[in-house]
Amino acid sequence: MKQSVKLIAGNWKMNGLAVNLGEAEALKQALEADPAACRVVLCPPATLIERMARLLGGGAVELGAQDCHASPSGAFTGSTSAGMLTDAGARLVILGHSERRAGFGETDADVAAKAETAVAAGLEPIICVGETLAQREAGEAVAVVSRQIAGSLPDSLAGRPFAVAYEPVWAIGTGRTPTLEEIEVVHRAIRLAIRARLGEAGDIAPILYGGSVKPDNAAEILAIPEVGGALVGGASLKAVDFLGIIRGV
Ligand code: 13P
Repeated sequence: MKQSVKLIAGNWKMNGLAVNLGEAEALKQALEADPAACRVVLCPPATLIERMARLLGGGAVELGAQDCHASPSGAFTGSTSAGMLTDAGARLVILGHSERRAGFGETDADVAAKAETAVAAGLEPIICVGETLAQREAGEAVAVVSRQIAGSLPDSLAGRPFAVAYEPVWAIGTGRTPTLEEIEVVHRAIRLAIRARLGEAGDIAPILYGGSVKPDNAAEILAIPEVGGALVGGASLKAVDFLGIIRGV
């Protein structure tokens, strides 16, 4: 398997005001002084994308968003289109996060439709999958993520830059993580599912691990075969913590 450069993305979720832009600035300065051995992305809330784009200036830190609508424009009060995100300065977009699947009822088909629109707008999607605790305890983790991959990746991703993130729902924000072996098993299954869905055209997509990644566990997780990076929540809010993860590559 070709090993592409790892990707470490920070998902700020619904956190971040103007006062927090200093964290992005500190991250940028640290990586300009001592470049990362991986791609580094920050995904702030939509309200901060444009200001963060000005601050980052297309340098060491790339910019992403956390969701987009499946339609390119129209009467969808309160929603943000993929084109609006690129216009504001985002180049990547997280799609199908479990918090959107669970809290907003997003289905695999919804995620695929959003990915299709995102790619058409020139965004690089980070498509999230992951099992619940009940599904893991029932021995269904591999079946669940394989089904999510089959349903959430549109044909148009073939040959385009994208990533998949494996985020076990029970590991998000809990401090709990799967064992290194469990992560490896699911990542190998996801690789096979991507291959089954898109053929060899999907081989370049990194498979990120997400769920309670911290400076003290990042290096061992990032060293697992088929772990192509990390999607980080809480520990991406402070530059010092996020840097601790980035330096684990
Ligand atoms: P935590 O790193 O806070 O567990 O969140 C993971 C996540 O959901 C990233 O998208």
